Amino acid sequence: MTDDVFSPLELRDVTARNRFVVSPMCQYSVEDRDGLATDWHRVHLGSRAVGGAGIVMTEATAVEPRGRITPEDLGIWSDEHRDAIEPIVDFVKQQGATPGIQLAHAGRKASKSRPWEGSEPVHPEDGGWTVVGPSDEPWPYDEEPPATEALDSEGIDEVIESFREAARRSREAGFEIAEVHAAHGYLLHEFLSPVTNDRDDEYGGSFENRTRIVREVTEAVREEMGEDNAVFVRISATDWLDDRDSWDVEQSARLADDLYEVGADLIDVSSGGIHPAQDIEWVGPNYQLRFAEQIRNDRDTDVKVGTVGGITSAEQADAVIRNDRADVAIVGREFLRDPYFPLHAAQELGREDAVDVPVQYHRAF
Ligand code: FNR
Repeated sequence: MTDDVFSPLELRDVTARNRFVVSPMCQYSVEDRDGLATDWHRVHLGSRAVGGAGIVMTEATAVEPRGRITPEDLGIWSDEHRDAIEPIVDFVKQQGATPGIQLAHAGRKASKSRPWEGSEPVHPEDGGWTVVGPSDEPWPYDEEPPATEALDSEGIDEVIESFREAARRSREAGFEIAEVHAAHGYLLHEFLSPVTNDRDDEYGGSFENRTRIVREVTEAVREEMGEDNAVFVRISATDWLDDRDSWDVEQSARLADDLYEVGADLIDVSSGGIHPAQDIEWVGPNYQLRFAEQIRNDRDTDVKVGTVGGITSAEQADAVIRNDRADVAIVGREFLRDPYFPLHAAQELGREDAVDVPVQYHRAF
C-alpha cells in the first residue's frame, strides 16, 4: 500500500505516528541567559504535540555555551539542562508525539543578538564570547565581527565530546530522536564546506577529511542514543555558491550514505547559510525537495530522507509522501501559524480517522 502523510514511520524501536515533523526553530526565549527550558518551550513544543505532529523537534539546542547563536538559546550542556527539559519531553510523549532534539553548535555564527534585535555580533564586554570555527576567518559581518578562533585538534575532540554528552543527556531526558545540526553555516557545515574550511590537517582538504568531524559526531551521538533510538542529521544540500569551490548535492548524496554507515537513520535536507554571497535561485513551495529527492534516488543504503522548505498545505505534505519523494514532511513556518496543522490537514483530506485527537478535544471532529 502506498504510504501517505498519515502513515506511521518506524525507525529502529521508534514509531512516529505520522510523517508531519515540526522543524527545529529557535525561540531565543531562555530567561537569564542560562540555556534552561522555560514555560515558553513547554507551551510551544507541547501545543504542537497536541496539534497532531508525528515528531516534535526542539530548536537548535547548544551542546556547549559558546555554541549558542544568541545568549538566549536553549542548551543541553549540563545535567541541569536535562532536568529542566525532561517534563516537556514527558508531556510531548503523553500526547502521542515522538520527541526529538536538535543538537547544535553555531561555530563562527555564534554570539549574535536575536533576530528582532538585529542579529548583530555580541562582543564579550556585552555578554558575548569568542567564537570558534575550522579557521579564524570570521563571518563577513558589516559590523566588527566577534573574535574568531580556529579549533585545534584538542578543541575538535572537545566539541565531539560535547555532542556525545549532550546526546547522553538527551536520551536520559527521554528524547527518542537526536538530530545533529550540520546545516546552515554552523560549525559542522563550516567543516564540510571548502568555502569555510581551509585546514591542512586531517579535518580539511579532501572530502574524507572535511566530513570527518560530522562522521565522528554522528557516531558519538549514535553510541549515546543507543540502538533503539533514532539519529537524524540535518545538512545543507548546497551552499548555493556555484561560482566557487563549495559544498553541493553530489557531495551531500555521498555523505548521506557515509552517515548511515556510522549510525544516522535519516538525513534532513535543507540548504544554504554558509556565506552571505549565496545565490538562492528561488524560494517557494517545496523549493528544497529536489535535493532530498536526488539524495534519496542516489543512495546506496537504506538511509531515510526528509524534505523541508515551503510546505504549507495538506495536499502538498501528503503528495510528497504519496509520490515517494521523501520519507517525512518537515514543516517550519506553517507550524508557527498553525500548531494544529496535522489536525486541520486530516479534516481537509477527509482523514479524521487517521489522527490522534486528545480526549479533551474529542468534539473537534
Ligand atoms: C528556523 N530554522 C531553523 N533551522 C534549524 O535547523 N534549526 C533552528 O533552530 C532553526 N531556527 C529557525 C527559527 C525560525 C523562527 C524559523 C522560521 C526557521 C529553519 C527551519 O527549520 C526551516 O528549515 C525553514 O523555516 C524552512 O521551512 P519552512 O518554514 O518553509 O517550512
